Amino acid sequence: MDLTNVDIVELAKQLRKPDGAVGEEVGRTMAHFNASAVAFTIECLHIQPKDHILEIGFGPGEAIAEAVRLTPRGYVAGIDHSPVMLEMAKQRNHRALMQEHVELTLGDAQELPYADDSFDTVFAVNVFHFWPDPTRELVECRRVLKPGGRIAFYLTHPSSWLPGIRDTGVFTSREADDVEKILLAAGFTNIETRATKTEPDGKGFVVMGKR
Ligand SMILES: C[S@@+](CC[C@H](N)C(=O)[O-])C[C@H]1O[C@@H](n2cnc3c(N)ncnc32)[C@H](O)[C@@H]1O
Repeated sequence: MDLTNVDIVELAKQLRKPDGAVGEEVGRTMAHFNASAVAFTIECLHIQPKDHILEIGFGPGEAIAEAVRLTPRGYVAGIDHSPVMLEMAKQRNHRALMQEHVELTLGDAQELPYADDSFDTVFAVNVFHFWPDPTRELVECRRVLKPGGRIAFYLTHPSSWLPGIRDTGVFTSREADDVEKILLAAGFTNIETRATKTEPDGKGFVVMGKR
């Protein structure tokens, strides 16, 4: 399927919640185009072998696979509200699922189905800009993080977005210092940003904080 024929508003909605045959193609495309963003985010996280990790909005499941590889004595959970992405990520992480090293769940970031103080790290790649008011999501992230646990959000910089996507109303445009302020207001500490250097994949940044 050729995504260049898909209307830009429909494409933006598909990126927010992939659905149907178009959603499957969007998932395959994300696995390709977000590879460097996933690698950069994982590098920033300094994952340790025993860590318990949660990814919100795992899409096709590439970052989940990398987190699994880095946590031979740990545990990885993922949540995504798209049934199409759940199936794709399950296929990508079939062996880790069989070994109960990873658990993938259909659900929404506003209501995380995990106990308090569960994770060393909670992260999301290109998901934060779908949350116009992330108050509830961040309360949930704090709740499931262990004290001292790390939160990290990767966002493609708005200057590297697909032409026209800004005007669809589906994405909220935020600079790194906007995200820093939001995390501070939500009670996170030790806020820091790291920006990507890699062109031509586009500019992006990871904002991190601690509970
Ligand atoms: C642009 S894709 C990014 C996927 C993946 N992180 C990557 O980098 O390739 C956004 C993903 O977040 C999921 N998502 C968006 N909002 C969500 C929410 N509130 N709760 C759970 N999943 C969400 C979508 O279904 C989609 O799979």
